[in-house]
Amino acid sequence: MSRAQASIASAAPWWQAVRGDRLTIQGGVPLNGRYEVSGAKNAALPLMVAGLLTPHLVTLRGLPASLDVAILSALLQSLGVGLQWSNTGDGLSLTMSADRARAGAIDAELVRRMRASVLLMGALLGRTGEADIPMPGGDAIGLRGIDFHLAGFRAMGATVEIVDGVVRARAPNGLKGTEYVFPRVSVGATENLMLAAVLADGPTVLRNAALEPEIADLAYCLTGMGAKIDGIGTDMLVIHGGLPLAGVVHRVMPDRIEIGTVACVAAMTGGEITISNANRALLGAAAPALESAGITLKDSGDGLIIARRTGDRLNGIDLVTQPYPGVATDLQAPIMAMLTLADGASSITETIFDQRFRHVDELRKMGANIVVRGSTAVIRGVPRLTGASVTGTDVRAAAALLIAGLAAESETVLAGLDHLDRGYDAIVARLTQLGGRMVRS
Ligand code: EPU
Repeated sequence: MSRAQASIASAAPWWQAVRGDRLTIQGGVPLNGRYEVSGAKNAALPLMVAGLLTPHLVTLRGLPASLDVAILSALLQSLGVGLQWSNTGDGLSLTMSADRARAGAIDAELVRRMRASVLLMGALLGRTGEADIPMPGGDAIGLRGIDFHLAGFRAMGATVEIVDGVVRARAPNGLKGTEYVFPRVSVGATENLMLAAVLADGPTVLRNAALEPEIADLAYCLTGMGAKIDGIGTDMLVIHGGLPLAGVVHRVMPDRIEIGTVACVAAMTGGEITISNANRALLGAAAPALESAGITLKDSGDGLIIARRTGDRLNGIDLVTQPYPGVATDLQAPIMAMLTLADGASSITETIFDQRFRHVDELRKMGANIVVRGSTAVIRGVPRLTGASVTGTDVRAAAALLIAGLAAESETVLAGLDHLDRGYDAIVARLTQLGGRMVRS
């Protein structure tokens, strides 16, 4: 067992490290029934980092049991944060005690496995005046710089240098409130600067802040701890720093990307799935896009009911990924998988990441007709997909191939399951309960 694996096993004992990295899917069966959506991965990670900000107890309810949550737990534990887990039946609960938190060496292997580790920087700087985080580098979906994060910390008075691949940030006299305009919308940089600003001296104004609902979820958790933040849900956040922060109990918002992923499963396999604790509004602009492809999304007292509108086939659509409230880039690959079987042509333009079409070659192996020109993919619907051996290269690419495998004729073998595990809590087991025929080995 590597050192990184050992620290994950110690910090997140619920995580089962050895699970097999091949999923054999017998496709072509409609999936039907009820699906419980998890807490959002992309809300959970910054919320867990917020536990570093106060010496008091922070409890998060409804965390997804995903690999990213396990990796971040290991990082927090290495910084002296005490972690107590319980499973209350509606997801994992974590109580964090950061009374003895300290800046310390961060495991570069863990950072390499999870880019969101960079979110530790703002909270550590605010709490301890120093942070040393290995540069996360690019990953399978593109370059993914952290220049806005670093520029924001510098604007707050920190010194930041990169020495031997490690970002060294120092603010020995504390951070100062500032005004920072993001050159382009960034979810992570908005979160990182919010986490730093709550402990800075004086107000921080963040302009062109990201509008993603996960940012509002973080803001509500921080205000629950005693922070004062104006403009929640808008692109100008004013964080009144320096107020004492107490503990909090906070429930993680539902995972809107998981909802969209499961919607694609229902639509592509021709089943009907009801997602408990979900509603149409959570999908944002993806909702009308899915509806124009021929999917019904019906809010009911029971949850969100998803099915194909009529006939055997969906129809082609054109969509462009955008920061929220636009269609999420994280749904681009799952929606593309679904459109491979639509009647007619579709186009998808990816505007957030520069290399987020790596699922295309894999979908082609299954018989999809997709042509990529620059940042646009043109998908011409085919009557059927056939099973193949394919590999997921990031969380959403893996989800897309899982969806395609469930709809394809014959057997698909999906590798790269680590990626699926990073972002989804037991999605394979839960889709199996809805009739999906899959074996992990
Ligand atoms: N960017 C920069 N410099 C920066 C920060 C961002 O150039 O300092 C660029 C990025 O390279 C990218 C764009 O700005 O081209 C937007 O990146 P953003 O910072 O918004 O992305 P992120 O915070 O790294 C989060 C999610 C991603 C999701 C994006 C966009 C988490 C942990 N990750 O990433 O989720 O795709 O926002 O919505 O919240 C996923 O879940 O599969 C995933 C990749």
